[in-house]
Amino acid sequence: MKKALLIVAALATTSTAAAAGKLEIFSWWSGDEGPALNALLKLYRQKYPGVNVVNATVAGGAGTNAKAVLKTRMLGGDPPDSFQVHAGQELIGTWVVANRMEDLTSLYKSEGWLSKFPKDLIPLLSSKGGIWSVPVDVHRSNVMWYVPANLKKWGVTPPKTIDELLKTCQTLKAKGLAAPISVGDSSFPQPHMWESIALGTLGTQGWNDLWSGKLKFTDPRAVQVWTNFGKVMDCTNKDSSGLTWQQAIDRVAKGQSAFNIMGDWAAGYMATTLKLKPGTGFGWAPAPGTAGTFLFLSDSFGLPKGAKDRTEAVNWLKLLGSKQAQDVFNPLKGSIAARTDSDISKYNAYSQSAAKDWRTNKIAGSLIHGVVAPETFMSGFGGIVAQFVQNRDANAAAQATQALADQSGIGK
Ligand code: GAL
Repeated sequence: MKKALLIVAALATTSTAAAAGKLEIFSWWSGDEGPALNALLKLYRQKYPGVNVVNATVAGGAGTNAKAVLKTRMLGGDPPDSFQVHAGQELIGTWVVANRMEDLTSLYKSEGWLSKFPKDLIPLLSSKGGIWSVPVDVHRSNVMWYVPANLKKWGVTPPKTIDELLKTCQTLKAKGLAAPISVGDSSFPQPHMWESIALGTLGTQGWNDLWSGKLKFTDPRAVQVWTNFGKVMDCTNKDSSGLTWQQAIDRVAKGQSAFNIMGDWAAGYMATTLKLKPGTGFGWAPAPGTAGTFLFLSDSFGLPKGAKDRTEAVNWLKLLGSKQAQDVFNPLKGSIAARTDSDISKYNAYSQSAAKDWRTNKIAGSLIHGVVAPETFMSGFGGIVAQFVQNRDANAAAQATQALADQSGIGK
């Protein structure tokens, strides 16, 4: 008996010792955006109680600040153990081409993930014969948010086309609403709205043609995107340059604006942080002109070469890819699970409708959130949007965008 107890004690010590260590997770999910990540880290700590988990966040929507810090760390030989990166060109066209990531194909095989993630998503994580990150969510970019009771009060309904949006804007202005559409600053909320306006103007094929190089940014149809974007900007708040995406959503929640176009992390913010009920506290519709298309993006985590706590990082990735973790994270985040076997009953009404659209809509990739263009394009594009907002010169913006696309190898 005594001997058995000793053995148990010895085993317990060994497993604690094996689990001890450190894990540094790098992302931009801080503050208001933190609850879903925190729930995931809690799960990790429960499974690996000896590990000191460092939650290294750099605030700033869409990772505008975090990506710059990450670059310095990666190039300086000080990578975090695992970091947030979007599926698509942000991963493949940036860190994989630079040979900075470990191939995770064997993990995909041992965890049985090849049949658990969507067939169309894995290619966006793959190149050069490897698979380079683990997706934790699927977010939708092209969503328009509103408060149903406020629209009723103002006597308007969610506009279905860009023309309708502009008409509704005039109706609301005539009723005294100075900024019918709210928007945040040019770091990402304005480019984010641009991509929905572009999809709504060009249609799905036109949007895809931009990224395959079939449609030039200088084509009159693509110039029209800027013209429409300018008209929509005329419906927005004058103080946008000082607002985060959350503050722009607050304007809708408080009835100061009628609409905001933002990805469905806004649903996470409204349901989890503001405690609003989907359907009554807030409503949603596809961004005008984009019904039937799910403009998607996916947050994933990878394993950089030279990670200091490799074992702990691999355990983190295993957890991330599990059904349990995905169904803990996504209901709080506003996204749906990347895994196809997730338990949809754990999700709210918004996410259930997003899950249905993900299954039935046409799928296209987000620009601002890493799917269709590499970082070189993205970092320059923010500047073009900011400049357009100042000078409203659609032709100049179209030419600058085409020059940037040529430089970044888009359509090559
Ligand atoms: C996106 C990211 C989302 C959310 C959003 C706002 O790029 O994929 O998960 O964090 O930025 O910060």
